[in-house]
Amino acid sequence: LPLSHAVAALPTDVRVITDRNVEAALKGASSAPWPWSPSDVLVLPPGESTKDLETFGRCLSWLAASGASRKTTVVALGGGVIGDLAGFVASAYMRGISLVQVPTTLLAQVDSAVGGKVGVDLPEGKNLAGAFYPPAAVSICPETLRTLPERQLRNGMAEVLKYGFILDPDMLGMIPADLLTAVDDEWDRIVMRCLALKAAVVEGDEFEKTGLRAVLNYGHTVGHAIEKVTGYGPVLHGEAISIGMVAEARLGEALGISQKGTAEAVEAELVRAGLPVHHEALDDGEALVQAMRLDKKAVGGSLAFSLLSRIGVCKLVTDVPVAAVLASLKHP
Ligand SMILES: NC(=O)c1ccc[n+]([C@@H]2O[C@H](COP(=O)([O-])OP(=O)(O)OC[C@H]3O[C@@H](n4cnc5c(N)ncnc54)[C@H](O)[C@@H]3O)[C@@H](O)[C@H]2O)c1
Ligand SMILES: [Zn+2]
Repeated sequence: LPLSHAVAALPTDVRVITDRNVEAALKGASSAPWPWSPSDVLVLPPGESTKDLETFGRCLSWLAASGASRKTTVVALGGGVIGDLAGFVASAYMRGISLVQVPTTLLAQVDSAVGGKVGVDLPEGKNLAGAFYPPAAVSICPETLRTLPERQLRNGMAEVLKYGFILDPDMLGMIPADLLTAVDDEWDRIVMRCLALKAAVVEGDEFEKTGLRAVLNYGHTVGHAIEKVTGYGPVLHGEAISIGMVAEARLGEALGISQKGTAEAVEAELVRAGLPVHHEALDDGEALVQAMRLDKKAVGGSLAFSLLSRIGVCKLVTDVPVAAVLASLKHP
């Protein structure tokens, strides 16, 4: 969808929440659809630290001061930080007003903007306050990816490859050899395919009750632990799950759940996409396991992982022995 069409399709009574980088990138674009008056746009500082309770409160007050009503639509224009924050704001303002997501990072387009999870971080931990709040619409505009920094593009590729690993081996063949020269149509096909996969999984388990949705967490048990021990920031989410997917594939092989060679195949795809597959944080396995136990998905201290049986098939495995986890964190 061209951005100009997405913008034209918005209702007239909107409040747009975005960040400075996104504003600069889109306002500078040649098509430059920026029809809003400054008073209808809240431009926040970029970065994860914007996704906090203080900014959440600031957004609610801004809506109230600008005269937003029950009929107003919140437009989340940005990456996952803006999507999660603005979505949570929309869910809370006057007990919930309409939300449109316009995700502008690859990660947000294939993951965070769909599925209905919104929220903010607390000082005590990431994503600890939030809601399930499905948007009225999600507008995906591949042209927004043209201004995305290379590292952010590769970061989003980790989630794209994850869909291939857990559900759709054929998609791995669709990935362009050079991400930086991929054209809008290629991104369109890849993003749409990821969304269809996520939608199918989420539909079967909207509120994370049956375990079906857990397959989306492949690479995330280790990945979240890496993000946590490195202090959120130095290792981006996609980079952390890239490292996590390789470690969890090794774990799957060690437990006899994954076909031999799975870890090698996973690693090769990630390396090809320019993603990291190792980090020095893996050297302190105890610290990572400690972080995994505190993860909100861990039940009663026992460790659970979504593991590949082979490329394209994934299942939730509970009560994984700590010794096996420690062994698989080590890169051979
Ligand atoms: N709700 C969910 O289901 C879900 C799923 C995955 C991740 N998340 C959340 O998403 C967040 C990460 O999202 P992200 O990776 O999109 O990070 P982000 O929102 O911080 O965006 C990354 C960077 O790219 C910049 N940017 C965004 N769009 C741009 C564009 N078109 N051109 C140039 N620069 C642009 C941003 O300003 C930022 O500096 C995390 O907070 C994570 O918890 C949520
Ligand atoms: Zn993720």
